[in-house]
Amino acid sequence: MEECLNRSCPCLRSLWDRMFKKDKKVEEPERKGSNSGHFKPDSDPEPRYEYSRSVASEEGAVYIALWAFQARDCDELSFDAGDRFRVVKRAGDWWTAAKLDASGRVLATGVVLRSYLERAESVTLQPWFFGKMNRSECLSHLLTDQNKDGAFLVRVSETDNVGHVLSVKVKNKAKHFKIYHSENEFYVDESCRLSSLLELVQYYQSHPLAALDRLGKPCVRRKPKHHDLSHTTVDMWELPKEDFILEDKLGSGYFADVYRGKWKNQTYVAIKVLKNNESLNQHTFQTEVEVLKQLRHNHLISLFAICTSSIPYYIITEYMEKGNLLDLLRSPEGNALDLEILTDMAFQVADGMTYLEDHNSIHRDLAARNVLVSEGYLCKVADFGLARIIKEPIYLSNDKKIPFKWTAPEAIEHGIFSNKSDVWSFGILLHEIYSYGANPYPGIAKKAVFEEIKRGYRMPAPSKCPHFIYKIMQSCWSKQPEDRPDFKRLKSELQECIDRII
Ligand code: ADE
Repeated sequence: MEECLNRSCPCLRSLWDRMFKKDKKVEEPERKGSNSGHFKPDSDPEPRYEYSRSVASEEGAVYIALWAFQARDCDELSFDAGDRFRVVKRAGDWWTAAKLDASGRVLATGVVLRSYLERAESVTLQPWFFGKMNRSECLSHLLTDQNKDGAFLVRVSETDNVGHVLSVKVKNKAKHFKIYHSENEFYVDESCRLSSLLELVQYYQSHPLAALDRLGKPCVRRKPKHHDLSHTTVDMWELPKEDFILEDKLGSGYFADVYRGKWKNQTYVAIKVLKNNESLNQHTFQTEVEVLKQLRHNHLISLFAICTSSIPYYIITEYMEKGNLLDLLRSPEGNALDLEILTDMAFQVADGMTYLEDHNSIHRDLAARNVLVSEGYLCKVADFGLARIIKEPIYLSNDKKIPFKWTAPEAIEHGIFSNKSDVWSFGILLHEIYSYGANPYPGIAKKAVFEEIKRGYRMPAPSKCPHFIYKIMQSCWSKQPEDRPDFKRLKSELQECIDRII
């Protein structure tokens, strides 16, 4: 019968093969060809996915944990979602596996629940799978202009017990759906249970998901930003002015004008052209800036180079497409930002400031005008340290230039700047964020603010500001610096707020 069917209908040979050779092992080439994600040969040890690249030999195959698991006896292994394993022995639902570190070394060996694991390459090769990622990073990938409505990714949340999350761009905001998992079923909505992550994604690519018509394209990954202009400038960062072309003027201030420019006619940079150069000693300037160059963090502007061979001096930094946070908040685009994005921006600033705090560096002029924004609402603190080198000589000679409304009372009165005076300024920056760029202490003159503060006055909450954020602001404005939280604590409190917002 098998022979007869094969002769009369050869194009269905694989079907006849499966019907008649049910017990025989399905041969590898047949599996290679299938990419549908639906065909599940009975003997396939990996029935949940079908990928052309998932045919690597079972021996030595790496698996990834889709969910966290808490060991209940000493034979079992505890693990987090995203942990990787090499399987030692397969036996029914319980396998023996070695947990691996990032470089493949064995951390521990024990018994694991098979259904919690997925062949690493089957999931991780998907363009929409972003692995372990917090919400802030997720937003900065998803909200870039390259991604249209419906763009999506699946990530493993960094928050305990959350597991996998499907994040989707909808009207320049992100919607997050927790993916539930039980007994080989995956779902965001209990009424529609699917047998794998891939099937879940494929299902919502052709069916509505909450208010969304359907999932669109996988999220385009944001390119990482460099901390240097090129490998040749890593240690050689006093560069000739001729390497730079000044293009559009981005801003003009008391201390400097800022231009967008190009290095060697190829890389966009921001060029700060310093004013009042008479007060700057070239050697002091170079040594002070050298310290700043060592400070590198994803939420601090990278200092690329300086040009001090002639006046005016140039400071070359990375270029941020959306300009400063204050102007962004006041723009129509900024006015449409939701609480999640606002809080995420505050979190990013707290993250950059935590790094400065850990490196005993004080900003002295933290304000929305000194935070720069790029694609995906990636925020970076700018001008750190420069306050002391460039601005202080001017503040000392002309107190009209002191940013009274942002500066902590002990810094105004006694010149005591510290990470805790930066925290005071951060409170004002929070007020700027949640008021969409309103001027602090409206109706009160700059210098009168100091007297009001000493008498105990504090700004009320902006109208759209959640109470838990206002409480953070108030804590930043404690009279005694030691009663204010540090940036590390602010960062974790803001993280909690982000988790509360959805
Ligand atoms: N304005 C001031 N500095 C800037 C920078 N680095 N990128 C964009 N705009 C800026």
